[in-house]
Amino acid sequence: MIDRSVLGNHQSEFLSRHWQKKPLLIRNAFPGGLNYVSGDELAGLASQEGIDSRLVIEHGPKSWETRHGPFAEDIWGTLPAHKWTILVQAVDRLLPEVSRLRDRFRFLPNWRVDDIMISYAVDQGGVGAHTDNYDVFLIQGQGRRRWEIGANALVHPELEPDLDMKILKHFEPVESFVLEPGDMLYLPPGFAHNGVALGESITYSVGFRAPHQKEMLLSFVQFCNQIEGDEIFYTDQTMPENREPGLILPGELQRLRELMLTGLQNEANFMKWIGGFLTEPRSFHEALERPVTEKILRAGLKKARPVERAEGARFAYYQVSDKLHFAAEGECFVLDRSLTDLVALLCREQSYTAAELLAHSEKLGFMELLCHLWNQSYVRWADEA
Ligand code: SIN
Ligand code: CO
Repeated sequence: MIDRSVLGNHQSEFLSRHWQKKPLLIRNAFPGGLNYVSGDELAGLASQEGIDSRLVIEHGPKSWETRHGPFAEDIWGTLPAHKWTILVQAVDRLLPEVSRLRDRFRFLPNWRVDDIMISYAVDQGGVGAHTDNYDVFLIQGQGRRRWEIGANALVHPELEPDLDMKILKHFEPVESFVLEPGDMLYLPPGFAHNGVALGESITYSVGFRAPHQKEMLLSFVQFCNQIEGDEIFYTDQTMPENREPGLILPGELQRLRELMLTGLQNEANFMKWIGGFLTEPRSFHEALERPVTEKILRAGLKKARPVERAEGARFAYYQVSDKLHFAAEGECFVLDRSLTDLVALLCREQSYTAAELLAHSEKLGFMELLCHLWNQSYVRWADEA
């Protein structure tokens, strides 16, 4: 694997000292900055249906307004000269160059990456002092921005009341930096931060995801609910005589609880569910209207046509006992172990040569898998515009 990491040989130091623990400022991580999208292009994306975008306007101290996209094209001309920001989520699923930026963060696993958000701010624009629940790398794409950060991760910070966004009631910055194009600031979850644009500014946020317990429980229970024939009812072990009719006995409470826990501890169901859950996308790539066949794909590969993964498509895999699980965009497949190297390649790279894929084409289940990924628009020919 070529080392494309943005941290170069500082990776191990970063992972042991900073990841999830301590902020880090890296000057000139992307020499010259990032120029994949302009403010106008971002405004264009924010006016499209199906793209998650926000406009944040600061009207005065403690007075903020958030509007959600899509925005009418003529809104931008009506805004003041200062103190507003447009934020567009998941641009890595829209623009190939932004999608490839994720390669620079491959030292962290695919399943922990959420998306790349890009913001454009006019002078003094920002979204106020806040905390995020997730790790984030803030890359200064173009322009300059002053970041102030707090000393520690906050657990239950007090928020300004009556706002439709989370602004900290108290923020005591301990450090302040002006980021120039290409500089990058890493923040672990919970660290208060406030970024204010100094002139026009574009910021790329490589955001991570950390599933939370309630969300996982809810999704797992929904998954189990769809499995037919898995209905186990409560049964009495004994029924004591002369009991108080309203009383639920401790032993009964215990058995009810055990019934639930057995469901939650079903390992086979967990393994079938977790991959889909962890790769679930923020938005879906649309399936092909005219599906391809294995024969068509094989013919293309034989003509040495390269293949690529769709922008931002989430792939991951795991092995449990003799089973290989491959998860793609919220779907999970159980595959033959002989396909391990192939799925590792699919997850690691954004594009694949025909030779790399053909090397696996005779293996059990490979062409069927490729065809499915294709028809769901998760992969496609790389030489087709
Ligand atoms: C921004 O890009 O304006 C905000 C990013 C953040 O503070 O998380
Ligand atoms: Co933030």
